[in-house]
Amino acid sequence: MPRRGWAVARQERGGAGRNWAAVEVIIRADAEEAVSLAAGVISQLVRDQPDMVLGLATGRTMEGVYQRLADAHLFGGLDFSRVTTFNLDEYLGLSPDDPFSYRQYMERHLFAKVNLSPDRTHLPLGDAPDIGAECRRYEDLIRACGGIDLQLLGIGRTGHIGFNEPLSAMFSRTRAKALSPETILQNMALFDPPSRMPHRAITMGVGTILDARRCLLLATGDEKAEIIAQAVEGPVTSMISATALQLHPRCAVIIDEAAASRLAHQDYYRWIFENEPDWDGFR
Ligand code: GLP
Repeated sequence: MPRRGWAVARQERGGAGRNWAAVEVIIRADAEEAVSLAAGVISQLVRDQPDMVLGLATGRTMEGVYQRLADAHLFGGLDFSRVTTFNLDEYLGLSPDDPFSYRQYMERHLFAKVNLSPDRTHLPLGDAPDIGAECRRYEDLIRACGGIDLQLLGIGRTGHIGFNEPLSAMFSRTRAKALSPETILQNMALFDPPSRMPHRAITMGVGTILDARRCLLLATGDEKAEIIAQAVEGPVTSMISATALQLHPRCAVIIDEAAASRLAHQDYYRWIFENEPDWDGFR
């Protein structure tokens, strides 16, 4: 029997308003289970809609998701040949072949391990000669591909999604952004030497992300607990970009117990998950 909800996307294009659930918070026992569920949702969508447009994210949390997708391709025959991808962001000034670029992160963790067609994988060009034109090109390309069916998201400690740092406008589009000192501190350890980390990035805007038909935010570990509580239960504010997801008609927030620990309404989220047929087959 065809499932509705997470497993069915195509027929909902343009058909807003029916059976849409706003934010759903799904709490898994540990990081392993949270990551597996996120990968399971993506795999199911790729199976149901082989030509889907998938929005991708970077960061340490995503590495396990990509490993599982690579395994699903290798051992389960998951076919990415018709999937198109758009990443959220890229560091400004880094060329696509720079080992610290997000393009190379994606090559290492996913692109080289599955059968995605290289001409269907997209990231902003961090070293484009005209950054404004590059941002417009990226927006146009997303639109030309029919928009994003599912946008995968992590969350930074400042509450950023993509690199939408505090005070990013709720309707912002792809553009260059200065990174906050906290974000630089969080990510510089991934650079060698750490001082090589750029202080600016090109990122999809909050508005670009909200345009995706679905969003899936994944966060694990206690260091994300406080920002997850603010993102999910706090007031919507441009000081925390992730709160904009409360305005999205269909957003799943998948977290482990540690990242959920500061949420006031955990029992309510568990009850909804247990009683929501959209998640049949994922429980
Ligand atoms: C970077 C990315 C974000 C991501 C964040 C989380 O800042 N631009 O999109 O959400 O990392 O990183 P981690 O998973 O390493 O905590």
